Amino acid sequence: MNAMGVSLLTPPAGPLDRELLVEVILRLKRERKAIILAHYYQDAEIQDIADFVGDSLELARAAQRADAKVIAFCGVRFMAEVAKILNPAAEVLIPDLEAGCSLEESCPPDAFTRWRASYPDAVAVTYINCSAAVKALSDVIVTSSSAERILRQIPADKTILFAPDRHLGAYLVRTTGRPMVLWPGTCIVHEQFSHKALVELKLDHPDALVAAHPECPEAILAEADHVGSTSSILRFVQESKAGEFLIATEPGIIHQMEKLAPGKRFIGVPGASGECSCNVCPYMRRNTLANLYACLRDEAPRLELSEELRLAALRPLQRMLEMAGAPVSAGD
Ligand code: 13P
Ligand code: SF4
Repeated sequence: MNAMGVSLLTPPAGPLDRELLVEVILRLKRERKAIILAHYYQDAEIQDIADFVGDSLELARAAQRADAKVIAFCGVRFMAEVAKILNPAAEVLIPDLEAGCSLEESCPPDAFTRWRASYPDAVAVTYINCSAAVKALSDVIVTSSSAERILRQIPADKTILFAPDRHLGAYLVRTTGRPMVLWPGTCIVHEQFSHKALVELKLDHPDALVAAHPECPEAILAEADHVGSTSSILRFVQESKAGEFLIATEPGIIHQMEKLAPGKRFIGVPGASGECSCNVCPYMRRNTLANLYACLRDEAPRLELSEELRLAALRPLQRMLEMAGAPVSAGD
């Protein structure tokens, strides 16, 4: 029983208020010897109770070095899978197993296998936003913060297959000058940003700088002063002398921007259909304080992978961690 007379391991009769949820989550976290890892696209209240908030590469590294019995992963399923692959001794919990990703869905393992087979000598460089099964069929995994560095290490005479994000792939072709065969997947969130709304916002805020994630289509990236991973965008707004920014990525990250760069103004670029909230990732936002509480309480849903699949997916992930080099440089 806690001071409020609530047994922390008994399901609540009705909805709990925010303050009580935070209290029970932090208490359960200690009891379970757990840590909470969260992506920048989580709700602000989840980011605020996480032990670590980061981009995909940083979260992979944090999961690998975590010395906790339990990792409660507040992100999407492929990120929790990476945590399990890199830290098999930990019990990896995810508040909602349905937290998928449109890029992962676009690339089923059987279709990926057929695609690879039609380019027998090619190197398969695969974005981390894919299933463990597709990772296991790949040569090396990349994240948005490590992709350029890794691609530059692949011998020039090799054909490169890049899956599953065609916008990120096309951006990397432009920045590295390296032709690649692209899988036709897209992120349903970054694909939605309205170019018209962005141009209008630039006219209304002439001193604002534009920061965009490379999952956006080329027309959006062409308007940007900075293109990079979520962590890189965060560093950009902190280091820049500008006071106002237009943000073309999931608006969950604006919470960290306001914390780390107080006094600056951040405006989320809207989605293409005007008033819709289609710039909010529906998969990431399946996680809530209520289901984070329930998953720590029940130690479920739990991420399980066969050891055979884990070991097969580990190989290209380890290659990524080696080729990505030292964590975080200004250009990442
Ligand atoms: P980052 O690695 O930049 O955090 O990207 C993850 C993601 O899913 C972007 O949509
Ligand atoms: Fe996937 Fe896009 Fe959501 Fe990132 S924002 S998890 S790429 S659907």
